[in-house]
Amino acid sequence: MDRSYFATVAKGLEEVAAKELETLGAREVRTTVTGVHFQGDQALLYKVNLWSRLIFKVLMPIFQVGCATAEQLYSQVKKLDWSEYLTVEQSFAVQCTGSNYQLNHTHFTALGIKNAIVDQQKDRFGKRSNIDLKFPDLLINAHIDQNVCTISLDSSRESLHRRGYHLAMGLAPLKETLAAGIIQISGYNGKVAFYDPFCGSGTLPIEAALLALNIAPGLSRESFGFESWLDFQSELWQKIKKEALESRLKTLRAPIIGSDLELSVLQQARSNAHLCKLEGQIEFQRKALADVEPKANEGILICNPPYGKRIGDSEDLRDLYRQLGDVLKQRFKGWSAYVLTGNRELAKVIGLRSSSRYTLYNGSIACVLLKYDLY
Ligand SMILES: C[S@@+](CC[C@H](N)C(=O)[O-])C[C@H]1O[C@@H](n2cnc3c(N)ncnc32)[C@H](O)[C@@H]1O
Repeated sequence: MDRSYFATVAKGLEEVAAKELETLGAREVRTTVTGVHFQGDQALLYKVNLWSRLIFKVLMPIFQVGCATAEQLYSQVKKLDWSEYLTVEQSFAVQCTGSNYQLNHTHFTALGIKNAIVDQQKDRFGKRSNIDLKFPDLLINAHIDQNVCTISLDSSRESLHRRGYHLAMGLAPLKETLAAGIIQISGYNGKVAFYDPFCGSGTLPIEAALLALNIAPGLSRESFGFESWLDFQSELWQKIKKEALESRLKTLRAPIIGSDLELSVLQQARSNAHLCKLEGQIEFQRKALADVEPKANEGILICNPPYGKRIGDSEDLRDLYRQLGDVLKQRFKGWSAYVLTGNRELAKVIGLRSSSRYTLYNGSIACVLLKYDLY
């Protein structure tokens, strides 16, 4: 049976996330700001959680209620039949987003919903569920939009950008989902060389390798929210995971290289690759941008150089961006390059004509991704 789902995604990645969902088999795919609506069966829900490289969470809307006031929200939520989703033996937690005039504090809105659910349980069963904010059996998401509250079950629980690596972090690591989004935009498919000359903790080369080796990013996660849902189909989930394990490729078809000036971040990059069982697949090199050379006649270079908002100072970075333009123009003929930066003034210093540009968000920082075709 098909159900409606809602995938949350970083601003700017909605269209690529919609394409990814369609490739995974989603139906009725429709984008909105920071989200994608889609439909599919339970197998698709499990598959999206396991395979999506771009999405933060997959929510399953179950109820919509009026919420003009806190009292209205409480009484409406208390009338819903929660026993279909939650037993008194299970723990739960409520997370809330959005606000309206009366409900303008997400923490208190979530508390009101929690109270309505446990009060219903006490009335009906004389007992109530425990609250577990860290690892609840059921994570409930409530979104307030004007006077309507959409209540969903969170099938992912912890955000899917947490692949199980990135325990070791550089100074300004990219989110795994953003790195994967840029890689999807570039059209990289593992058949040509990949290079990141500012690799830091290795997010871009690691996400490129996971894609090139057809490794489902969720395989190294410990659990997903849907595994403790009352309708969880364990056999179906084991089958989907087994298929994913069997579809992994053993070796790369073209080299993936990351280099960086800093020895300490390269150590983190190697340790992150090890956590993803990618040791020996990615070449990490200590190299200043000035010494970077491509090892192939064609390929895709993707990087996010420092841009002054989080590390370094933009004045000092002008030389680095100028040098990046020179290195790309002189040494990377035949390649396509993608540069993500949060500083448009610095981007101009690169001095090359971009063939496309995209606005993407690195957390709350609006960034531009510039594409250069290098002839
Ligand atoms: C914004 S961080 C990249 C973060 C990386 N994408 C990640 O996910 O961890 C920029 C990186 O550029 C490196 N860097 C700065 N100047 C450099 C230079 N001249 N040559 C090579 N790397 C440099 C820094 O050490 C830093 O790791």
